[in-house]
Order: sequence, then structure tokens, then C-alpha cells
Amino acid sequence: MLVSADLVFGLQWGDEGKGKAVDYISPNYDVIARFNGGDNAGHTVVHQGQTYKFHQIPSGVLHGCLGIIGSGVVLNPESLEQELTQLNGTPKLIISKRAHLILPSYKLLDQHLESLKNGKVGTTGRGIGPAYGFKALRFGIRVGDLFEEDLLTKLNDAKKLVENLGVEWQEPDIEHWRSILEPFVGDDYRTLHECLLEGKHILFEAAQGVLLDLDFGTYPFVTSSPTFTDGIHVGSGFNGKDLDDIIGVTKAYTTRVGNGAFPSELDGEMADFIRKQGAEFGTTTGRPRRVGWLDLVALKYACKISGCNKIFLTKVDVLSGLSDVGLVTAYESNGKRYDEWFDFDETALKQVRPVVEWVSGWDSPTHDGSPDKNLISFMDKIENTVGAKIQWISFGPGDEETMRMI
Ligand code: GDP
Ligand code: IMO
Ligand code: MG
Repeated sequence: MLVSADLVFGLQWGDEGKGKAVDYISPNYDVIARFNGGDNAGHTVVHQGQTYKFHQIPSGVLHGCLGIIGSGVVLNPESLEQELTQLNGTPKLIISKRAHLILPSYKLLDQHLESLKNGKVGTTGRGIGPAYGFKALRFGIRVGDLFEEDLLTKLNDAKKLVENLGVEWQEPDIEHWRSILEPFVGDDYRTLHECLLEGKHILFEAAQGVLLDLDFGTYPFVTSSPTFTDGIHVGSGFNGKDLDDIIGVTKAYTTRVGNGAFPSELDGEMADFIRKQGAEFGTTTGRPRRVGWLDLVALKYACKISGCNKIFLTKVDVLSGLSDVGLVTAYESNGKRYDEWFDFDETALKQVRPVVEWVSGWDSPTHDGSPDKNLISFMDKIENTVGAKIQWISFGPGDEETMRMI
């Protein structure tokens, strides 16, 4: 029988701790593959006491896994070059020749598009939307194109479109980009299939989270790619039917960077407390993250739509010390109660009123103890609502601050 592959992805609006989760479980895998997003992602890993920030490189390279950057990723070669400098030596890495490049003008275009909008998305400003947009319009430049004869013709077409959109064309430094990427260019689909046939263990590492998914997130306040199970096939050529564990990462509360409805959002002292305790400032942009209670209506939706069967629960330490912890168990709108389907457009989601239930606070777990009974009741409530098992609890950023549940 072929060895299966697993997925780690975010169940919320990103920054759930996917990097930490991947680093923690990656000793069980040979290959870690990214399939969506670009350097809008920021995955912080505290590995053996040292902090790493990954944007495009899969987090598992620290354990010597083969990293793959799949076709569905949009790639910024210069930010990749910077990421590589934090590693000792060159990692084993394959970058799909089909991955699209983020051209320098796309960042300007990102700003330009935001300036045209009434309701700004609050993007990371990395040119992600334009990169996926040019790809869909068939004006994109792929990694493999850098090594083809007709590159200049393709660049010229992209330039015409950029200028037509009213933005200055900035020439990419092609020679430099070639030198960065050449050692890594390959075929994601082929490598993944060969690895599977050889019985290697593969882990997919998603960027962003279900609620930022282009189609199933809180559109239009989303990113521009598929962010969970839906993205694997298009983003790497790997057949989704060969997936085994679908591991969703969620915080014990919720955060969001950027704009858009956020039913369980907190403000005032409680928000300040959680933001400070949890160091809730973006890895990529440094922006303060908006914070709120864990939203079980949204979480249930995220689990349902992704097929999540295991949960990696993070940041339980951040809420320790609170006498009571809130959980949003339903929404109310126009006199009706909703707890089953997360079926709201942006306007409707802005208007719902969260129904908050309270559980008693807990003491943070330690390495040798079992979780506090109040934390267990909080976890029971989550498991019973969403129908997936909490397999890991994380109680600090370090790799050792993690507990595996039986
Ligand atoms: P990602 O984008 O999903 O990988 O998440 P980020 O790395 O952007 O944000 C998560 C942040 O929380 C990082 O700074 C992690 O080091 C940190 N972190 C992860 N798990 C825990 C935890 O259980 N407790 C605390 N206090 N911090 C954590
Ligand atoms: P990781 O992988 C949190 C958000 C942005 C903005 C929206 C669109 O670290 O969880 P974009 O630049 O993608 O066009 O911005 O998506 N966003 C993220 N928020 N974590 C991320 O990645 C994000 N990537 C994009 O803040 O609201
Ligand atoms: Mg992040």
C-alpha cells in the first residue's frame, strides 16, 4: 500500500500557529510541501530555542525534510533569498517551474487596487492579488519562463498590461533571479508522485486559513488563493484522494489581520490583554492583530468544509489566568439563532450578534502534567461541536511547549 500524505492548514483567518505545528510534527515526514500563497504568509518557528520566520520555504526544512514550493505558490525570489540566509547551509528544496513570479510592479499594483476600493481589504502589500490576477489573465510569468527564450516577449506583454492599469513598470533583475532560483527549479507534481511511490511521508503546509480562502472565506476580505484541502490538487498536482490526516490549527481564541467582519471581536481591556499576552502582531507586516473569542460557528464550518479530522490547538497559555473564557456558540440576527451553518455574506456577517458562553479559566499545562480540568471542558466543548479530535495542545511558542493527547 502507498504511504499516505497529510495536511496542516489554518482553521481561522491565518496566524493560527501552522509553522509551529509543522515544525513539531515534521520529524514524522520526509517531504513538506507548500501549495498556496506567497510571502504574504509568515510562519514563525521557535526550534531548539532559535526563532525562524518562514514566508515561502516550508517550515519542515529545519528537520532536514525535502521542501517543495508547489505550482500554486506565487514566488518572490528576493524574499526567498532573504529567507535562505537564516538557514545554516542550503536546504533540500524544489521550486515548481509552474509557480508564478511576483514581479516588482505587482506591489505597486496591490496599493493601486486598494486605493480604488471603497472597502479596503487591508492586504499585506506583497503583490499577491496581482500575481494571481495576472496568472488567471494569462499574463503571468512563471519560474520556468526565466530560462526560456521567449522571456522578453512575455515580460513585454506583462509590462503593457501593468502600464495600462496605470502603474509604473519596474524591471525585474532577471539575471539575479535566475541565480537565486536555478539550483532549485524542478517539477512538484513529478517529485511528489515519485516520493509517494517510494513510500515517503509527505506533509502539505498551507498558508493563510479557511476564512481567508478566495472562494469559501469571507469574500472580498480574503486572500487570492485556495487555502485548505481545496488547494492541494491545483497547487501541487497531488491527488487529494491520497490525503489521510487533515490537521486543522486553531488558537484558543481568534485573531484577524486586515479588514472584514469579525463576529467574536473584542475591544477594550480584554482585547489589549490577549494581544499583549499572545504577542499578536503580524509576522509579515508587524500590524497589531484584531482579537476575539474562539468562534465555534466559524470553526465548525471550517472543519466541515475542509474535512478536518485532527486539531492542533494553540495558545492555550495566553488565556491562562483569566477567571472566565468566552466561546461564541451561536449568532443571532433578526430574532433568529444560527449555530449550524456559517452561511452569511459580508454584510450579514457584520450584523450578527455573537452568543457568548463562558467556561472557567485554566492554568497553562506544563510538560509533565495533564491539562487542567477546566481546559479539558473547553476542549470537550470544541470537539463535540466541530466533530474533530484535538490531538495536540500548544502552550508556548517553543517546540517543547507542546502536548500530544492520546
Ligand atoms: P502561522 O502563520 O499560522 O504559522 O502563525 P504565525 O507564526 O504567524 O503566528 C503564530 C505566533 O504564535 C508565532 O509567533 C508563534 O511563535 C506563536 N505561537 C505558536 N503557538 C503558540 C502557543 O501555543 N503559545 C504562544 N504563546 N505562542 C505560540
Ligand atoms: P499566514 O500563512 C494572516 C490577510 C491580509 C489581508 C488579506 C489579503 O501567516 O497565516 P493578501 O496580501 O493575501 O492579498 O491580503 O489576507 N492575510 C493574512 N492574514 N495570516 C496570513 O498568512 C495572511 N496572508 C494574508 O492581512 O486581510
Ligand atoms: Mg502567520
